[in-house]
Amino acid sequence: MSVSVPRRNHVLIVEDKPSLASVYRTHLEKDGFACQLAASQSAAISHLENSPFDAIILSLELSGPDCISLIETWTLANPAASIIVIAANASINDAVDAVRAGAWDYLVKPVSRNRLITTLTNACRSPVQQGAGVAASPSRPATPVPDTMIGSSRAMADTRRQIEAIASSSAPAFITGESGTGKELCAQAIHDFSPRANQPFIALNCGAIPHDLMESEIFGHLKGAFTGAISDREGAAAAADGGTLFLDEICEMEPSLQIKLLRFLQTGTIQPVGSPHTRKVDIRIVCATNRTPQTEVAEGRFREDLYFRLHVLPIHLKPLRERDRDVAELASCFLDTYTHEEARSFSRIDHETISTLMAYDWPGNIRELQNVIRQSVVLHDGEALETHMLPDHIVNAKARCSSPAPGQTGRLLWQIERDVIEAAISGFAGSIPKAADALGISPSTIYRKRETWAEKSA
Ligand SMILES: Nc1ncnc2c1ncn2[C@@H]1O[C@H](COP(=O)(O)OP(=O)(O)OP(=O)(O)O)[C@@H](O)[C@H]1O
Ligand SMILES: [Mg+2]
Repeated sequence: MSVSVPRRNHVLIVEDKPSLASVYRTHLEKDGFACQLAASQSAAISHLENSPFDAIILSLELSGPDCISLIETWTLANPAASIIVIAANASINDAVDAVRAGAWDYLVKPVSRNRLITTLTNACRSPVQQGAGVAASPSRPATPVPDTMIGSSRAMADTRRQIEAIASSSAPAFITGESGTGKELCAQAIHDFSPRANQPFIALNCGAIPHDLMESEIFGHLKGAFTGAISDREGAAAAADGGTLFLDEICEMEPSLQIKLLRFLQTGTIQPVGSPHTRKVDIRIVCATNRTPQTEVAEGRFREDLYFRLHVLPIHLKPLRERDRDVAELASCFLDTYTHEEARSFSRIDHETISTLMAYDWPGNIRELQNVIRQSVVLHDGEALETHMLPDHIVNAKARCSSPAPGQTGRLLWQIERDVIEAAISGFAGSIPKAADALGISPSTIYRKRETWAEKSA
């Protein structure tokens, strides 16, 4: 009898500092990974020539030829291996470039054991891995979801997984999230990844169309159905037949139309305004709102029966302030786009600017970040985007949280420092990594300092 032994995930650790390499190896081997060490680029190349790997951990501080071109070469030569780069905090720009060059993800030092294991586990299960040697399902595009949605935070990874999971269904999807978090982009991604991808994607903003025209916008009308209906007009539902109808700002839909939408969802038929006839259509509904739909139902503004019909496959997009890891990637991508569009020469964002962007709260989310980068690019030029090029309110927000408050005399320096750091941590809802970034120090410095303060206060 033959027993199939599960294959262990093989990881190549390319790190020239023996102490770090051995820490990574110990953590990974305890979790069942099989590791090989390479202390130089040439040693790594010979390992790669001799055996296949599921993942490669590459230190960006490794000496030798440019790591970015190395990643490009390795991605082409070893398409089945997910590359994870490890960067020092100061070289986050390089990490972002590495992801663009084909790296699967990046980790910033100091790397915690949990983060290392989670990233490697996901990398070894990544689409690169799952797709290796397996034919893609005919009903789905072969590419992973979706390269239009930038961001490698855990929240974005979850969103991508949700999109992949729900795309092939025809059941309604309901996207929630603050303004500017990417709801429309997400709706488009659901469509693009679905079997309906080659059919129309029709978007209708229920908040932007006058209420008395909304019914005709969705269901169409016949000539003469109302004043101004000078010819027959096909509505969005008929135009979306076979594809996806995206109803944006769904909570703005007025009650009388909510009943008609409910009827359409129950019967699958549309009836243009002024027409005695109904017509069957095949539509996947995706809707979005930046309100809390449950509150709208509880307060009587949105029909409960319609809510239950629509709220079948929910996706919630987290605000940008809760996915700070994405800020650097998004900013860098917007910088490239606008540098090109505005014929400027920016090629990177300096470290302090990244930390200023990460310290800001982004109430307008990704759209606000996009506008800030565009404005900075239009108004300035240079090789690096620097802090003074950002709008004042972004820079001042960081200064407020990182500068000591008045009235700190009469205390010892360590007490003032402790208060500033603790205030920054509270300002970031307890997040030590965010506070550390805002203050320009590493999270481990904060942990160490907290231990010292506890001893001093004891
Ligand atoms: N993950 C992302 N990667 C790249 N660009 C993004 C991402 N998410 C959003 N954007 C961009 O940010 C802008 C706002 O996104 P979108 O219009 O989808 O947000 P929204 O949630 O629908 O906003 P609103 O509630 O104001 O309608 C768009 O230009 C979009 O392309
Ligand atoms: Mg929108």
